[in-house]
Amino acid sequence: MSANSPAAVIVLAAGGGTRMKSNSLPKVLHEVCGRSLVGHAVAAAEELAPEQLVVVVGHLREKVEAHLSAHYPAVRAVVQAEQKGTGHAVRTALEALAASGVTLDGTVVVTTGDAPLLTGATLASLATAHEEQGNGVTVLSAVVPDAFGYGRILRDEADGAVAAIVEEKDASYAQRAILEINSGVYAFDAKLLADALSQVTTDNVQGEEYLTDTLAILRGAGHRVGAVAAADHRDILGINDRVQLAQARRLLNDRLVEQAMREGVTVVDPASTWLDVQVTYEPDAVVLPNTQLQGATHLGEGCEVGPNSTLRDTRVGAGAHVSNTTADRAEVGESASVGPYAYLRPGAKLARKSKVGTYVEIKNSELGEGAKVPHLSYIGDTTIGEGTNIGAASVTVNYDGVNKHRTVIGAHCRTGSDNMFIAPVTVGDGAYTAAGSVITNDVPAGALGVSRAQQRNIDGWVARKRPGTSSAQAAAAAAGVAGGASEG
Ligand code: UD1
Ligand code: CA
Repeated sequence: MSANSPAAVIVLAAGGGTRMKSNSLPKVLHEVCGRSLVGHAVAAAEELAPEQLVVVVGHLREKVEAHLSAHYPAVRAVVQAEQKGTGHAVRTALEALAASGVTLDGTVVVTTGDAPLLTGATLASLATAHEEQGNGVTVLSAVVPDAFGYGRILRDEADGAVAAIVEEKDASYAQRAILEINSGVYAFDAKLLADALSQVTTDNVQGEEYLTDTLAILRGAGHRVGAVAAADHRDILGINDRVQLAQARRLLNDRLVEQAMREGVTVVDPASTWLDVQVTYEPDAVVLPNTQLQGATHLGEGCEVGPNSTLRDTRVGAGAHVSNTTADRAEVGESASVGPYAYLRPGAKLARKSKVGTYVEIKNSELGEGAKVPHLSYIGDTTIGEGTNIGAASVTVNYDGVNKHRTVIGAHCRTGSDNMFIAPVTVGDGAYTAAGSVITNDVPAGALGVSRAQQRNIDGWVARKRPGTSSAQAAAAAAGVAGGASEG
């Protein structure tokens, strides 16, 4: 970490992102591992605890500003109405700060809103090296296998010091062979930065104010210009299109999965396990293949999730098993069992040792300790007491077409298979219901609720109405007579 908090971190995020080929979504709002690209930049910046945290917005700025104020209220968004280059973007940010009475003194880190693999630790080590070396500017560099599109770092032939950065489009043939590149991340001395920016021209192929020109300007004025290489060149990957977006997601996911494994989670198939940055876990959790853990999902100690499961903002208790399940904002209690093929919707709260079985959907409902809904059921807006068993193929009929109503089923009930509970309705503690019942009225504690027509059998119906069929033959054989003379 930098000894001192930087005076400011400025995140550049005004560019158009045309290569994303989106009609509506600004580049920096595309997501990787549960966080927007600009969110990754802001999260890394926040680790430095800067005095000022500025994001320069421009392209589709209303959407970016709304996103920032909803999720990152500490950020000051500065509008760069026209994208006239990275130097112009930083100058705009400094002018906005000055206009609101902020004087920057110390280190200013400039970073980019489209590099989600950059960590706070990388920014901090850049700022620390910058201050320790007493540089006017320090650039985060990398040596890459393919430098196409990046600004190249030019070094002084005599002493090897960083002399300038030349953009791909402005570079000579020989300069394009250089593999040491500019990541687009820098630490500056605040005063020198403002002064250097005032000297930047638009005298280049793109007719833009290049931030990169400040390096040669500061060196020319006798200041030290440094470079710090990224620990891994992939950390600086900037997203320009959706292919790179997928590459970044894969790399960040690898990091998150590796971290989970190092902290005691068994991940059977890292390649098909996808984690969001906010996911938390405890030791000895096991994740089976093809599983997505999203949002603030939490895995308790020794639980097992997967295969083929997608959990969003869901808490899984210690020792619980969740298989082939989709869950959203659900709570799975300790040692509970879910699936295979279950759907837990918002507000599903399963107490410890409860069970939600196969082809079961639960919404906005609580299951008490040890309660079971084992097969083929829909439970919505319902409270089920401890130790109760719900028969197969049951529905709590919560919707009358206009309003939703609650069903309350007490503790230690045994409800029959194929029951419809027409809400609002209450079944008392210890009650039973008969299979096939439509429960419209409350069932008192300890009673048996039955609601179905008396069965009657019409003897000989098949022989009379379906002569000659295999059913008639089987019936005749069962009756011990030569049966079912064929038709015609
Ligand atoms: C820039 C660097 C290049 C470096 C590369 C790293 C310059 C001149 N070049 O090139 O040396 O290798 O980044 O990825 O700085 N932006 C604004 N306002 C603008 C222009 C850009 O906010 O007017 C933002 C963009 O949204 C983006 C960042 O600045 O987040 C970089 O801009 P981009 O156009 O992608 O620069 P590159 O050509 O990639
Ligand atoms: Ca870029």
